[in-house]
Amino acid sequence: MNSKDDAIGVFDSGVGGISVLRHLRRLMPQENYVYFGDSANAPYGCRSTEEVRRLTLAAAEKLVNEHRIKALVVACNTATAAAVTQLRQRYPLVIGIEPALKVAADHFPGGRVGVMATAVTLREEKFDTLLHRFDENCAVAKIPAPGVVELVEAGKADSPEMEALLQSILGPYRGRLDALVLGCTHYPFAAPVIARVLGPEVALLDGGEGTARETHRRLAAANLLREGAAPGTVVLENSRRSPEILELCRHLLAL
Ligand code: DGL
Repeated sequence: MNSKDDAIGVFDSGVGGISVLRHLRRLMPQENYVYFGDSANAPYGCRSTEEVRRLTLAAAEKLVNEHRIKALVVACNTATAAAVTQLRQRYPLVIGIEPALKVAADHFPGGRVGVMATAVTLREEKFDTLLHRFDENCAVAKIPAPGVVELVEAGKADSPEMEALLQSILGPYRGRLDALVLGCTHYPFAAPVIARVLGPEVALLDGGEGTARETHRRLAAANLLREGAAPGTVVLENSRRSPEILELCRHLLAL
């Protein structure tokens, strides 16, 4: 039986899900959170679907076994694409992030939209289903972005290396997009560089805010929102057992 004081478990392949945790805390500061990043196994985005599923299920099991968790937020588009069905068979309250294509289609009808995401996210059936719901409303370009996650994990989200990499990936799209969906939770940390490469007129859309709202809605429906105005706690854990990675998490969370 879950209690309102139990934590919201937040999972990502590494530090990327901190971008979702920021939205969660902004919307629900009174909640307790446990964040687990699997940086020792990141990036997930170039692995096989089976490997991503195995790693995701193992991480969820660890979170649930080691903490009192009332809801699990999969703050990783790649893990959601590969394993959300299996997670939902095991746990009652699972919220998975997905690329914010609906937001793009709603705001840019008839527009040109890029979706930057990992190879796993872009090739999974879940993404095709999402794409077919919206590709009549706008022209969608799939943009894989190998290497970006690694630089964010190395604390180089805003660096000359990131600038060079994103120039090569996004340079060809300059002047050709109305919006870019950031379909990986690591990418919001590189948003300043992305904006410099694409220009300030291109809207950058990420699914973190929608995921936080959905988490709030699901907790409210289950009568599991934590009460009172006192701020909740945040526990940060990572499979790469180094002080540096936890320091990077705190920095990205602006704790
Ligand atoms: N942060 C993850 C996502 O949202 C993927 C990063 C990775 O490739 O490990 O897709």
